[in-house]
Amino acid sequence: MLNILLSGACGRMGRVIAGICKDHDVQIALGVDVKNEEYAGFPVYPSFDLCPENQAQALVDFSRAENLHAVLAYAVAHRLPVVLAATGYTEEDLSAIRKAAEVIPVFRSANMSLGVHVLKLLSRRAAELLSGFDIEIVEKHHNQKLDAPSGTAVMLYDAVKSADSEPVYGRHERTERRQKNEIGVLSVRGGTVTGEHEVGFYGPSETVLLSHSAQDRVIFAHGAMRAAKFIAAQAPGEYNMDDMIHL
Ligand SMILES: NC(=O)c1ccc[n+]([C@@H]2O[C@H](COP(=O)([O-])OP(=O)(O)OC[C@H]3O[C@@H](n4cnc5c(N)ncnc54)[C@H](O)[C@@H]3O)[C@@H](O)[C@H]2O)c1
Repeated sequence: MLNILLSGACGRMGRVIAGICKDHDVQIALGVDVKNEEYAGFPVYPSFDLCPENQAQALVDFSRAENLHAVLAYAVAHRLPVVLAATGYTEEDLSAIRKAAEVIPVFRSANMSLGVHVLKLLSRRAAELLSGFDIEIVEKHHNQKLDAPSGTAVMLYDAVKSADSEPVYGRHERTERRQKNEIGVLSVRGGTVTGEHEVGFYGPSETVLLSHSAQDRVIFAHGAMRAAKFIAAQAPGEYNMDDMIHL
């Protein structure tokens, strides 16, 4: 049984994890969340500063990118392997993650689902095979999502980009033709959509569309629990889905 500290414990993802963690032989020793609601038999503290000594062997964070520094400070101070699942990190955040990974194992993925990992691999291959095609990425999420574009869309952009690619986030007030090196990244927000991503390759007289549709958040929760068990057994360093899933 792996004991974890769950950050963002009272959010949508935190609650799904609380429901399925036992399937992975994972137990939540304690939670941290500003909402501070105890709902599933483990204590929840409003900040890391208030957490007592505990049995956690890994920290799983599904709170907010803005909480990263508190998450890393606690994980480094307690030498806890960490799974970073929040999205919307800045360049400065990414360098803080690199620094922390010198002392603790850090797993980071903007999308913990196996299907999206496969979409990324297929998109990378399609970009190689369909050279010269215009690439456009469209993502759709529920109306409560804070960051745009989604972390997954950014990850897909990184998978298909080439050395001279330029991301274009929407084309409001643009009055010029699409440039050859553009990759459009477009965000739709509405209703309760869990997460949809499409990578389109548009060539002369033909289009190839690769897409993934998440129907339930539980896919991310299962991936995060696999990541927690994976990262708990690693040496310090940065890890991602490529390291965990060998297809
Ligand atoms: N990597 C993935 O596969 C994946 C999948 C789904 C969501 N996400 C990301 O995970 C994050 C959480 O998603 P969600 O839908 O559960 O959001 P949510 O808003 O429902 O939950 C976030 C929780 O974090 C808490 N929180 C916010 N700031 C905090 C702080 N400073 N300290 C402690 N707790 C704090 C909130 O009170 C809330 O309960 C988002 O960044 C989202 O984009 C990642």
